[in-house]
Amino acid sequence: MSDNITQIAYLLGAAILILGLKRLSGVKTARRGNQLAALGMLVAVATALVEVGKIDYGYVIAGLVVGTLVGVVLATRVQMTSMPELVALFNGLGGAASALVALSVMFDWLNTSGEMNNVSDSMGVSWTISVVASIIIGALTLTGSLVAYMKLDGKMSGNPVLLPGRHVINGLVFLGTLACAGYLGSQADSASTTTLCVVGVTALSLALGWLLVIPIGGADMPVVISLLNSYSGIAAAMTGFVLHNNLLIISGSLVGASGLILTRIMCKAMNRSLANVLFGGFGAEETSGGGGGGQKGYTTVKECAPDEAAAILESSGSVVFVPGYGLAVAQAQHAIRELAEFLEEKGVSVKYAIHPVAGRMPGHMNVLLAEANVPYEQLIEMDDINPEFKNTDVAIVVGANDVVNPLARNATDSPIYGMPILDVDQARTTFIIKRSLSPGFAGIDNPLFEAENSLMIFGDAKGVLEQMTKDLREL
Ligand code: TAP
Repeated sequence: MSDNITQIAYLLGAAILILGLKRLSGVKTARRGNQLAALGMLVAVATALVEVGKIDYGYVIAGLVVGTLVGVVLATRVQMTSMPELVALFNGLGGAASALVALSVMFDWLNTSGEMNNVSDSMGVSWTISVVASIIIGALTLTGSLVAYMKLDGKMSGNPVLLPGRHVINGLVFLGTLACAGYLGSQADSASTTTLCVVGVTALSLALGWLLVIPIGGADMPVVISLLNSYSGIAAAMTGFVLHNNLLIISGSLVGASGLILTRIMCKAMNRSLANVLFGGFGAEETSGGGGGGQKGYTTVKECAPDEAAAILESSGSVVFVPGYGLAVAQAQHAIRELAEFLEEKGVSVKYAIHPVAGRMPGHMNVLLAEANVPYEQLIEMDDINPEFKNTDVAIVVGANDVVNPLARNATDSPIYGMPILDVDQARTTFIIKRSLSPGFAGIDNPLFEAENSLMIFGDAKGVLEQMTKDLREL
């Protein structure tokens, strides 16, 4: 294939990828966006295979078959609540792929360079920087993602591991990595010193990824995963420079930028700075949640049975459901939709209030509710629904806790102070469906449970919602 045709094919792949990404930004178009992005990737892979020309296609086909099988099994088996773990693993593999390509290019140069000289003298400074950056970022993305995966999956404690003098240790490892990289690019002029430097850079980067993520609590892992996603994109873009592959540069940059934007959105929605997430050791004294504290003695909590709640719902004109992490745990998305549909049939206005960080991953609630065929137009973003709560008859909080905690408004010493919340306490009546008075992710008490207009309905979200629908039908 001529170089022009190759570049046009890559450009086409990049354009399809970008269109796919654009479609991912809307719930209605997301599925098609995903398919388009996969098509873009297919165009890219096919072009790359034709471009490299005569190679042993046996390895390529074997890799494709194994990769596809593993991908299909993982994607079909994974529970919605375990999606962040899967994304963490994929990020790690992306980082590993970039680092491995860069390492193979470096060792290939070592094997073929003949008379030994310094790598940047031979290949140029920018080539060397791209290779080394690809190794560093790819390797630290691999180990950082593995720690994130293990923390989320319970294979390792979710508590922050705060090593004594950890900032100094991390600083020294980082400086050591840079020193190895600097020596490699400027001084190393024999095969043995070059190899030693490459091994040093790789080993120190792997250690750095591990060290940077262990002090972060399991609670903050979704933010870390988003950041590592961005790193894996940057590593891929660097590999694109190494291989002179424009599509890899474009797609890597897209992933790098979108990961950073998502990280920023998540930090903003939790009212935390990225530095606080990465270095704050949030959740070091935690109990069951992520942020410490929790479980004081509540004294004025009012309880209500599903049939009593059904009786109140029967006479209401407007209901806003507030889904949270517990909805995902209980897999209650179909039960909530059935209750909502029944209420609508009775002429009740029904909406769902979506908090940007409800659940454990971006868009968690949107995805769950879309899976249960909840109409998109009923999903209302936080800023749009908040003014409506004061005119709402009943707010039904289903397995949500932190995102409706009024402490975020005025308790300056609370770990969630400043986080924007859903103003459910302004509704005429607020039902809170959860199994106990346990805290949520941030590990702190919630004064909403004791509010004048709050009624707790204890139980598994799915069971309670189904019972409420049954009781309503019988009224
Ligand atoms: P949480 O504050 O974590 O509260 C979830 C509640 O669900 C728990 O209090 C739990 O109470 C209840 N629950 C668990 N299983 C249940 C079941 N089977 N049936 C009924 N209830 C159940 O959830 P949230 O309000 O959605 O807030 C999300 C939190 O995650 C925020 O603090 C946010 O900052 C954090 N976070 C989110 C993200 C993203 S991107 N979404 C990223 C990082 C951090 P019981 O045990 O008493 O049932």
